[in-house]
Amino acid sequence: MFKSFYGLRERPFGKTPDPRFLYLSKEHEEALARLEYAIEERDMAVLTGDIGSGKTTISRALMDRNQKDHFILIVNPRLSPTQLLREIARRLDLDLKHFRSDLLEDISNRLLEFYSENRGVVLIVDEAQLIPTKSTFDELRLLSNFQLDDVNLVSIILIGQPELRERLKHPTYSALRQRIGMWYHLTNLNEKETINYIKHRIKIAGGKPSIFSESAMKYIFEKTNGVPRIINTLATNSLLVGFEKEENPITIESVKEASKELVL
Ligand SMILES: Nc1ncnc2c1ncn2[C@@H]1O[C@H](COP(=O)(O)OP(=O)(O)O)[C@@H](O)[C@H]1O
Ligand SMILES: [Mg+2]
Repeated sequence: MFKSFYGLRERPFGKTPDPRFLYLSKEHEEALARLEYAIEERDMAVLTGDIGSGKTTISRALMDRNQKDHFILIVNPRLSPTQLLREIARRLDLDLKHFRSDLLEDISNRLLEFYSENRGVVLIVDEAQLIPTKSTFDELRLLSNFQLDDVNLVSIILIGQPELRERLKHPTYSALRQRIGMWYHLTNLNEKETINYIKHRIKIAGGKPSIFSESAMKYIFEKTNGVPRIINTLATNSLLVGFEKEENPITIESVKEASKELVL
């Protein structure tokens, strides 16, 4: 396997958003800081970014770095309003009442319990562009209105692809928009960040950052536009091609070969 040839303990470019491999580019750091602030303020926030740009990774880092608050992470939000409330109730260890009004009452009581313990409740909805209808967004807005002594009881973070932002711009969402205190769009990595990202992941995996030649890394940036998920795919394939040729460092030619095999 290429691992031992390149002196790696593990695969440096895995497919899962493993927080151990977290690389904080300026944008990722900024997104995290702003979301943390929104949570402190118990506000509503929207994080958008292209597919593979690192949104889910950031939500994991957010939870990792916060041991105080209670997080509810919803990753498949194709839910009707009542299904959404049931899911939230379930994550709050509540009995699943049949009627919406009972669900809401139980949820609100539980939020008050957390509040009295001085703990926040953070609802993260990933892939929020998949929310099917406005009525589910309305339910989220109503939840965001739960208050005591003028303090919100829940922070809500909506994460999604750029179309989420477009959708929420529509006039029918103006009430929800007014509730949103923070919008952040995650951009892709630039060339320097892409190179640092590659070196960082190799280092975490136990290898020497010089496995790829500089020109090879520049080519990876060119081919992937700095999208982390695509960088991972191309870098893994390049490791395989380089290993076949027993090449160290891996040359730009091998990355070119690897990128031809992939449909990027
Ligand atoms: N800041 C980062 N540090 C380390 N790996 C990252 C980072 N951002 C993205 N990745 C990697 O890129 C891949 C895609 O990231 P992900 O968070 O799933 O993107 P999105 O949710 O925006 O589609 C994941 O496998 C993850 O490991
Ligand atoms: Mg994601």
